[in-house]
Amino acid sequence: MAEVEEVLKKDVSRRSFLKTTGIGLGVAAGALMFGTGVAGAQTQGGIVAEAPLPYVDLDPEEARLRAHAAYFRSGCAYATFYAIVSMLRDNVGGPYNHIPLRMLGYGRGGAASWGTLCGTLNGAGAAINLVAPDADVNKILGELIGWYTITPFPSQESDDVAAAKGYKYDAKDYIAVALPTSVSNSPLCHASVTNWINKSGFAASAPERAERCARLCGDVAAKAVAMLNEWKTGTFVATFKVSEETAGCLSCHGSDQIGKMACTSCHEPH
Ligand code: HEC
Ligand code: HEC
Repeated sequence: MAEVEEVLKKDVSRRSFLKTTGIGLGVAAGALMFGTGVAGAQTQGGIVAEAPLPYVDLDPEEARLRAHAAYFRSGCAYATFYAIVSMLRDNVGGPYNHIPLRMLGYGRGGAASWGTLCGTLNGAGAAINLVAPDADVNKILGELIGWYTITPFPSQESDDVAAAKGYKYDAKDYIAVALPTSVSNSPLCHASVTNWINKSGFAASAPERAERCARLCGDVAAKAVAMLNEWKTGTFVATFKVSEETAGCLSCHGSDQIGKMACTSCHEPH
């Protein structure tokens, strides 16, 4: 599929270079060199402002492709962060050229392979935090996390993307088959991956497990971008609610613990 290959082969650093040299949009160069910005000035004397950076409508399907491919470079957290921020580099430029795309690499495997917060959520959360004010970050990321815990992954869309490929990227072969899906019931890498291993029968070390996580990166990046697009146009509505069971636990345990994770994934009900 030619267009799919095209998207992945776009060399982000080259495109950013074109833009910062003014050959691209012609505005980002000014932002970088003179401290004036795209859509409201975000760099002053080379220092990136602490305020949220400009966001423009992005293509969720391109985010899916970029995240999927990026997983094989530096893991899940890098992948979702990279997908969103590299697209913002291409479409906004300016301050995004100052943010290292490798920054979220540490989040792989639930942070240095500790299996804590799923890296896809960590990376997407960091990108969301770059563009949205604090109050909105909790709403958007909270919704993304809730959605993640109840959605079967990897999705049909991500399977289709992989199936349509049949090309190599960074010398890795994609596995062009539909993969078994699982629901994590948790935002933790540990639970998410282990549930999938149990469901699918593939070991953690299997290439299929890596491909599953790559597709999950695509799914989460696409969802995060779709949510940010809605947020930008003012149509975003958070709909996730914890399960009735968890709500029941929280009715008594609202103040002696912190969190919204499904309680009985770790505790026995009593
Ligand atoms: C009707 C109120 C109520 C509900 C509903 C409730 N709990 Fe509790 N829970 C308590 C009380 C009271 C204690 C004992 C006092 C304490 O240790 O804080 C307790 C203790 C616990 C403890 C500590 C147990 C221990 O061995 O020390 C855990 C963990 C816990 N609850 C989890 C849950 C979970 C999970 C749910 C939902 C499935 C739940 N609770 C629902 C009232 C409740
Ligand atoms: C990822 C696993 C996990 C999840 C999910 C989880 N907990 Fe816990 N919880 C723990 C651990 C670990 C502790 C520390 C004490 C322990 O080891 O039991 C703890 C402690 C507690 C305690 C204090 C227990 C005590 O001995 O005093 C309560 C109450 C509690 N959790 C309630 C909840 C409720 C309510 C939820 C759902 C909203 C929840 N937990 C979700 C792992 C979890």
